[in-house]
Amino acid sequence: MTDVVIEQVEKTFFDKTKDTSFTVFQHIDAEIKSGEFVSLLGPSGCGKSTLLNIIAGLESPTKGKITAGGAEVTGPGPDRGVVFQESALMPWLSVLDNVMFGLRKRMKKEEAKERAEYFLKLVHLSKFIHAYPHELSGGMKQRVSIARTLAFDPDILLMDEPFGALDEQTRSMLHKEVMYIWEKTKKTVIFVTHNIRESILLSDRIVLMGTRPGRIVETFDVPLERPRKTSSAAFGKLEEQIQQKLAVEIEKVMKEELGDDYNSKKSALLYHTDRDMGNHI
Ligand SMILES: Nc1ncnc2c1ncn2[C@@H]1O[C@H](COP(=O)(O)OP(=O)(O)OP(=O)(O)O)[C@@H](O)[C@H]1O
Ligand SMILES: [Mg+2]
Repeated sequence: MTDVVIEQVEKTFFDKTKDTSFTVFQHIDAEIKSGEFVSLLGPSGCGKSTLLNIIAGLESPTKGKITAGGAEVTGPGPDRGVVFQESALMPWLSVLDNVMFGLRKRMKKEEAKERAEYFLKLVHLSKFIHAYPHELSGGMKQRVSIARTLAFDPDILLMDEPFGALDEQTRSMLHKEVMYIWEKTKKTVIFVTHNIRESILLSDRIVLMGTRPGRIVETFDVPLERPRKTSSAAFGKLEEQIQQKLAVEIEKVMKEELGDDYNSKKSALLYHTDRDMGNHI
């Protein structure tokens, strides 16, 4: 069953004060099946977050339309839950109360508490339900944020670089947790990242976005058995394939941003490009 359909979507931002406009991407077409785990991969600024926000209903497309579960997206809805890079917990509330907060509008206190406890257990935070955000590590905060989103039981989970700010060990642990949750809950997941290895580790399919102009460059199936090993030959082969395509897009951004300085700074910058593409995982 198809869950999310993106049809000819375009996003242009208008700056009325300067009377200018900027088209982030255009002609975006994609279909995401129910229960599928899809990554949106691409260089910084290509519009990954913008596209995710449009699917979430937090932004509207300039052209085209998006349907989720058969209904046109016109705003945020309980069928779509979003996890951002920063966990944005309420510092004055305990872990349990943070997860219960939104639920309280929909159900009785006891029911909300039971639900919150269930999802905090799912992300392995049962021992910390009475702790406050400042007492948690970055990875733990992000797990609270995932539990909070899951507690609403959305069909579609939209994740925008949820582990981008975390250290490698924590990130790797959370990859395993996300796989466990996805296999247990059968949610449709759209996961934004600019990290190739992360996208291969997690996804059924990788949608590679390019820039100047923003568009879908290619879609890669990931037919590897889970749990995946970064050391396997098939993993390396796919990584290499995606890396080559992504490098072309990143180079375009660098050329445009650096102009005449591009050639002199190219070698130094490519080191960072390599790192950004996930070689440190
Ligand atoms: N509200 C806005 N108004 C004007 N321009 C915007 C707005 N939001 C995003 N943009 C522009 O749209 C482009 C795409 O931004 P977006 O945040 O979607 O990129 P991204 O692929 O998520 O990048 P990153 O990997 O750095 O998070 C950027 O050039 C950005 O400056
Ligand atoms: Mg982004």
